[in-house]
Formats: sequence, C-alpha cells, structure tokens
Amino acid sequence: MKRSAGAAAFLGLAFGAVAGLLWPTDPPAVARSGGVTRFGQVARSLSQEERERSVERKIGALEHPVRDRQLPPDVILRALDIQPGMTVVDIGAGTGRLSLPIARALNGRGRVFATDVDDRLVPVLRDRAAAQGLEVLQAVHVQPGFDPFYRDKQFDRVVMCSVFEYLQSPSAFFEALRPSLRPGSGRLAILQGHTRARYFPTDFDGTFRRAPLLAQGDGSPVLRRMPPNLRAHLRRVPVDLPVDATLAADLAVAFERMLADPLLVSDLLWHDDPALGLGRTWLRSIAADDRALLAWIHVHFDDTHLWQGPSQPQTQAEREAVRTAVWTALSPYFSDTLPREIFARGIYLSPAGIVRRMQAAGYRLDSTVQALEGHDFLLFSRAAN
Ligand SMILES: C[S@@+](CC[C@H](N)C(=O)[O-])C[C@H]1O[C@@H](n2cnc3c(N)ncnc32)[C@H](O)[C@@H]1O
Repeated sequence: MKRSAGAAAFLGLAFGAVAGLLWPTDPPAVARSGGVTRFGQVARSLSQEERERSVERKIGALEHPVRDRQLPPDVILRALDIQPGMTVVDIGAGTGRLSLPIARALNGRGRVFATDVDDRLVPVLRDRAAAQGLEVLQAVHVQPGFDPFYRDKQFDRVVMCSVFEYLQSPSAFFEALRPSLRPGSGRLAILQGHTRARYFPTDFDGTFRRAPLLAQGDGSPVLRRMPPNLRAHLRRVPVDLPVDATLAADLAVAFERMLADPLLVSDLLWHDDPALGLGRTWLRSIAADDRALLAWIHVHFDDTHLWQGPSQPQTQAEREAVRTAVWTALSPYFSDTLPREIFARGIYLSPAGIVRRMQAAGYRLDSTVQALEGHDFLLFSRAAN
C-alpha cells in the first residue's frame, strides 16, 4: 500500500508530465504587484468563494457521494494507524468527514480537535459529535494562518484533507506547527485531490457557470458536444437551482470526454463571447499571468490556434497536453480565477510541490499511501533538527 519516499518525486506526475513542460521551474514567489505570492492569491480567491457560498451548498459539496467513494474512512484510518489514547488534530475539518470516524476509532480515549476557519461549520460539527456521543471530539474555530490554538500541544497525528490550497503561506504555517507534532512517532498527513486535468460531478454543483453557457445558444462549442438529451436536461433546470446528482454525473462524463478533443480549444478560441469574455480572453489572461503556459500553447497549436498534431493526439504526453489545454480553455465556465489557480496548482499542489514545501518547513516525507482514487495521500514526520 505504501511506497518509498524516493518514489515521491515521481508523483509530480499528478499534473501530468505536462506540468514539467509547462512550468519547468518554480514561478517567482512574489507576484509583480502588491507583494502577494501567487499561492496567496489562490488562497485568497478560494476563501472568498467559500464565504460567498451558502453553508448548505458548502456542506452539499463536502458530502457529495463522489467524496464518499474517494475518501473511504476505514482505508484512511488504517494508513494513519489511529490508536485509542492519541491526540489528533484535523485541520480544516469541514463537516467532520475524517474527524468523526477518527473520534469513533479513539473509542473514548484520547482527543481529536477538529478546527475550521468557517464559523458556520464549527457548530454543525459540534452538534454532530454530541448527537453521536463522541465526547473526545472538540470542534474549534480558528483564524486563517497559524492560530495560537495549535501552540504548546503535542499531536500524534495531524490530518489535513483538501485544505493545503487555502493556506496563504503553507511554509510559514507548517513551520510554526512543527513543534506541535510529536517528535519521532508523530505523523502529519496531507490528502489532496489530484491536480490532473479532469472533472468530477462535484465540479458541477459549485462554481459551474451554467447561465453564460446556456446563453450562447446552439452554436456553443461546448453545448454542441453534449448529447441532445443532456443539453435538454441542462436547459430544463432553472439556472438559480443547483443541478441534481444525476445531471452532475452526466455533465462530468460529457466534459471529461471533451478533454480528449483538441479541436475544442480552437473552437473556443474562435467562438467570441463578449458576455463571458471567452474567445481569446482566456488566452490573454494566461498571457498576463503565465508566459510559459502561453509558449506551450503556441508550440502545440499553430498561430491560428488550431491543433497541429494528428487528428487525435497519439502519445500519452500528447493526450495529457491536450487535456490540459482543453481544461484551461474551459476554465472560464467554472470560475473567473481558474486560469490563475491552475497555474499555481500545477506547481504547488503536485505531490512533488507539496513535498518540497514541507521539507523547507522542517518535515521529512515518511511514505505515500497509494490506496485512494482521485487523491494523493502523503505522510510526513518531523525532520531531525
Ligand atoms: C475543501 S474543505 C475540506 C473539509 C474536510 N477536510 C473534508 O475533506 O471534507 C476545506 C475546509 O478548510 C477550511 N479552512 C480553510 N483554511 C483554513 C485554515 N487556515 N485553517 C483551518 N481550516 C481552514 C475551510 O473553511 C473548509 O471548511
């Protein structure tokens, strides 16, 4: 189930070999304006999106059945080797996907602190723990950044699932946290969704911008690529209501299929949509932010932005390259800020990027757990002083 730390760098493939082509080196840590790091920009835009989302929708996304499949608690708890008597902290616990099963596994002995910056979620988790008689679970509201709550504690396990990208400065956060991880036996687990270009049903109930897509009408390159019954279903659901699980699953399949279609990039580039700012605008936004990605697009697509490979990409590297390009081109349908996020995610949220940051903050990669579909799972311990 585990593999060696040496192989971890290999996991940098999370964003595909393409990431290496696109971003051969780290970007400048500090953006040109305002002195904010790129990672900080991503964290800020994500946190902003979260605040704007109703708590019901946030809970719905966190508890989506896809995540039940991707994050089976028994597998995760086994890898974490949770034992009664331990002190555990689940940072960014959300609705308790991991802290509730951890609390049950403690079997009345030990403690699990479930922290979150979202003061709407903390009482939800508190109530759930009380309803299930889990007195070992303590839900704690913390401030973004390093909250003094973590200071002067000794955690046997630190767990962080899908939170890394919210930290404005992960290196500073983990460096400050380091003294609170028990030396020797203490383990810090980072679970993070793959940054490969792909779609999950959960992508369609949150930030998916249906209104501008539907407004494009039948000529839309995206709508044209959907099966007619799916298009009709999409049109039937009022745009201010969340899509249901069946529609979300069907959309994920349809969009996933589109990722293999290199002509979609050209179609999107030529499809002018002033309302959404599609057309070439996404290319401009990349150009402003990421010249390496722009250069890569020019290598793979000719100057009229047409795919210049064979009718279908042949090699694995070509397929990955096309998926990344299509995914980037589709990103304005999901969020204004996505092109920037992709840039940062490709570097920072690849396992290799996480490992690099953790090493800089004084941790050692202990092992990588290979048991989860759709998620990387890295276990760290404190590096010797
Ligand atoms: C994507 S959710 C993941 C929740 C849970 N870990 C799970 O996997 O179901 C990220 C959570 O981290 C919280 N969060 C963001 N920044 C945080 C920080 N600095 N400290 C603690 N929680 C944070 C958010 O409010 C959100 O509830």
